[in-house]
Amino acid sequence: MLRSHDDKVKELLGRMTTEEKLGQVQQLTWTGDTGPGGGQTKEIEALARAGRLGSVLNLHGAKWTNDLQRLAVEESRLGIPLLFGFDVIHGFWTTFPIPLAQASAFDPAVAETDARVSAAETRSQGVRWTFSPMMDVTNEPRWGRIAESSGEDPYLNAVLAVAKVRGYQGPADGSGLRSGEHVAACAKHFVAYGGAEGGRDYNTVDLSEQRLRNHYLPPFKAALDAGAATVMAAFNTVGGVPAHANSHTMNSILKGEWDFDGFVVSDYTGVMELVAHGYAEDPAHAAELALTHGLDMEMVSTHIADHGAELLDAGRISMERLDDAVTRILRLKYALGLFDDPYTDEAAEIAGPTAEARAAAREAAARSMVLLKNEGGVLPLKPGGTIAVVGPHADSADQHGTWAGPGRLVFDTVSVLDAVRAAAPGADVRHSGGGDPAMAAAAAWAADVTVVVVGEDSAISGEAASRSEIDLPAGQQQLIEAVAATGKPFVVVLVNGRPLTIGGWADRAPAVLEAWHAGIEAGNAVADILFGTVNPGGKLPVSFPRTVGQIPVYYNREATGRPYDEAEKYVSKYLDLPDGPQFVFGHGLSYTTFTTGAPELSRTEIAVDALERGETVEVTVPVANTGDLTGDEVVQLYIHDVAASVVQPVRRLRAFERVTLAPGEERRVRFTLGAEDLGFWTNDPAGTYVLERGRIDVYTGTSSAATVRGSLRLV
Ligand code: GLC
Repeated sequence: MLRSHDDKVKELLGRMTTEEKLGQVQQLTWTGDTGPGGGQTKEIEALARAGRLGSVLNLHGAKWTNDLQRLAVEESRLGIPLLFGFDVIHGFWTTFPIPLAQASAFDPAVAETDARVSAAETRSQGVRWTFSPMMDVTNEPRWGRIAESSGEDPYLNAVLAVAKVRGYQGPADGSGLRSGEHVAACAKHFVAYGGAEGGRDYNTVDLSEQRLRNHYLPPFKAALDAGAATVMAAFNTVGGVPAHANSHTMNSILKGEWDFDGFVVSDYTGVMELVAHGYAEDPAHAAELALTHGLDMEMVSTHIADHGAELLDAGRISMERLDDAVTRILRLKYALGLFDDPYTDEAAEIAGPTAEARAAAREAAARSMVLLKNEGGVLPLKPGGTIAVVGPHADSADQHGTWAGPGRLVFDTVSVLDAVRAAAPGADVRHSGGGDPAMAAAAAWAADVTVVVVGEDSAISGEAASRSEIDLPAGQQQLIEAVAATGKPFVVVLVNGRPLTIGGWADRAPAVLEAWHAGIEAGNAVADILFGTVNPGGKLPVSFPRTVGQIPVYYNREATGRPYDEAEKYVSKYLDLPDGPQFVFGHGLSYTTFTTGAPELSRTEIAVDALERGETVEVTVPVANTGDLTGDEVVQLYIHDVAASVVQPVRRLRAFERVTLAPGEERRVRFTLGAEDLGFWTNDPAGTYVLERGRIDVYTGTSSAATVRGSLRLV
């Protein structure tokens, strides 16, 4: 869709000097907030005046961006506007739940609402490009950036990436990009960043072509099909070649097979890091390899701009490739209306969360929460009697999570304590601050029920925040045990950015609510769930391991030749652990109960060529609310290709639908399976997708542990 601007782009390109072209592929940072080193303010002002700068990140505000834009538009020779970019990952002023929480909602409308609200706030600040959505499939809880992801399943990541692109950009044809409430999206991090060995950030990723294509690439292809205008390269290597100079992923797949017409931006100093990787000899070599292998814009480091002229003279990079990179960047600037309207209306600036935005964030947070356990009817709470609210996160405003926008600095998150007080005005709500187990136990003794709020500070979640142990931080388990020792009813509320190993205390907690880092309205959303104003319906988008030693543990695994069998010794297992994770992908409870029936297939066999012609199989799943409260259930459909030329996962999520049912209500949920759902990519580096004849089992249910199945035969 961006190619429609090529006539204007070509005319402008023809008037640009080499120096101006090298400037367009350069992005500098106003502040050093999101990576190593400091801000580049002085260089930015000088280069903007000289027409030798393409983009600026980490600056927002209509006035401030207008002031800088004037230098580029009114003082430089060609007046090419700057493109302002910012990390708006889950909110600008209005902080929505972290993406991993949004994935738990199993409801793309939640992600799209975040993106739509965020885009309007962001655009009013003079920023027309967000470095979001992040779509790195990952099952690695030690990796801090799991918080930014949509978890361990490629399909769920793809559905949410599409929702975010639609919310940020508007229609897939790009027609929304010129409007005042949309911004360009950025599919990141290309590619396989979520596979970092050991969950240690920036670490090595070594994988097969089939794992690359079946596991890591699908969300990116879906995002680009939805019109994502830009892509950001990943810090890691892919099969020994850094993603910032990986011609296979960027040139062959992204720009070749997928015909991507937008541009690839480096990550923060990612081009410079090619030397540290041991891939480039020096900065000039790094510039040559990155640009030649498909990178189009350099973020913060300046090797392409610094060495581009000499590399051109030496024939080490071609003017054709440089022109292509500049063309891709200018296309987006035209699509965003920057040439016609480079400035932002300062009077129209959105200055903070509106009531509607807060309400949307509160609803998103409640829909994202997962009821992991609820025994003895502890939940929902009655809004009366004596309620103790204890734990280090009970009165904490730190629930925005990693990569929260500027709103986190200005607008407080509602604490759980304040929200419980507001939700239960008739109750005697008592609070013991901090993490003192004895004080928490004393409060629990004196209360009818206790809410224990524990978890992670935002600072130990996100980028450069990998943890080698993923228990609750020090002292919190002791606090839970002290409360449990009172024998009084209690519920644990988790405020965190990753799966945690909670097996050490979960069996002593009657109820556990996974609230995640839930954003600006976190406390109110927790109270909505605790008192039953909202019946929880979220599901886990990632497995919770029993111990760190069990990692990696994920649902879409291979069966192995010796699958687990409790009665057998020589099978794939740990001597000191039961089989499987603490909680499986797709797990989540409700205050009511549901049943789902066996999948009814419209046909039990279908010819491969019929699928290739676009024929499909309809799958109908009956679901019923068998309890006495209205509630949500997420009906999930998985497949297992039982014999394939590339061994297939024992379960692959292919469809899901979150439905709301009244007590006693029954619904028949309908799904469609087509060629894109039933085949897989082989290890062919040129990209071969196959539909193979044979049996495919179809499982339906309310988590990845579903055992109810039908069978389909491809003939
Ligand atoms: C960071 C992150 C990336 C972000 C960029 C700009 O290092 O890896 O996701 O968009 O720098 O802040």
